[in-house]
Amino acid sequence: MKLSISLVSISVALVAAAAVTGCKKGDKTGNGGAAGTAGTGSSAGMAGAGGAAGGATGSIALLLPESQTTRYESADHPFFEAKFKQLCPGIDVVYSNANQVAADQQQQAEAAIARGVKVLVLDPVDGDAAGAIVKNAKAKSIPVISYDRLIKGGSSPDFYVSFDNEGVGKLQAQALLDKLTKDGVANPKITMINGSPTDNNATLFKQGAHSVFDGKVTVVKEDAAANWKPEEAQQLMEQFIAKIGKDGFDAAYQANDGTSGGAIAAMKAAGIDPKKKPTVGQDAELAAIQRILAGEQYATVYKRIQPQAEKTAELACALFKAQQPPAGLVNGKVNNGTADVASILLVPVAVSAAGGGVTQSVADTVVKDKFYGPDTVAKICKGYEDACAAANIK
Ligand code: BGC
Repeated sequence: MKLSISLVSISVALVAAAAVTGCKKGDKTGNGGAAGTAGTGSSAGMAGAGGAAGGATGSIALLLPESQTTRYESADHPFFEAKFKQLCPGIDVVYSNANQVAADQQQQAEAAIARGVKVLVLDPVDGDAAGAIVKNAKAKSIPVISYDRLIKGGSSPDFYVSFDNEGVGKLQAQALLDKLTKDGVANPKITMINGSPTDNNATLFKQGAHSVFDGKVTVVKEDAAANWKPEEAQQLMEQFIAKIGKDGFDAAYQANDGTSGGAIAAMKAAGIDPKKKPTVGQDAELAAIQRILAGEQYATVYKRIQPQAEKTAELACALFKAQQPPAGLVNGKVNNGTADVASILLVPVAVSAAGGGVTQSVADTVVKDKFYGPDTVAKICKGYEDACAAANIK
């Protein structure tokens, strides 16, 4: 009897010791933060309580969709990572870029999950296909932030961080329409090149643009550039010109600056002066801002990527630490076909060289915000000195 009692007390002591060790280990790894939130057990909860502040280690994943558009490598990725490291020091960011191949993104997500990341920040190549990634992550209690593009496919991501994307399309169309009205073009004829059909944003840009154009212009040709490829947009514009002729359109809508670059190249190759055909894009890419100052592209839509990436980093760090998002961060909800997703939505701005109508000037937007870094003016004006002087950029 005595013996059995002491065995029980020894085993109780061993269990207690193991629990303490486990908790200390958890504090160090910090791996359980987010998993703790989602309720996968007490040791995860303990680790979460340790949080990043306690010199924790662990990782989260950032999965971006492509690199032909400059924003991802020059802004989204570095701004996210810098803010996240500041808020959650010691926690790794596992980063992958899918180069617009959905199957690659699927593998990158699986690899990150297998590595034990505790939060997934996912900008999907294909919004429907990425539903499977969310389901897989959530089965392992990993929270998912749908970054910039909405994830659908029957899934319920935890958060969505983006811009008012229908608003982007409206701004694009209104900027073009204002310009045509100012130029006195009656019954304008417009070509439209939309973005990738697998990107929910492209659907919203298109809807927003049509809501302004319809009834006011004739859309003479419209198609979508698969995977947002500029070369695809160039081919589409070549085909449009071949069918409708150089005088068959007054202005051209492209969903972003990359595809605008392609369309403008096709115009030049066909002997069309792009200064005579107002065009619009999106992203305020450096090359597009230079085209705008040179008069070759009329307008773009500027989206402040730094706050988008930094707000996402705040959210990701809170989720890692099993905390609620900081107060005031979430400002809306968006339905993805399956659930209302708590959302952070930012406001886009239309930009033309000198501003006017629905647009603001280059000087008042990307220059004022130093969008390309401390040497923004030098970057924009190299080779465009006269255009910069004319637009009051210094
Ligand atoms: C983004 C745009 C980008 C496009 C191509 C969209 O989802 O919102 O900023 O130009 O994808 O990557």
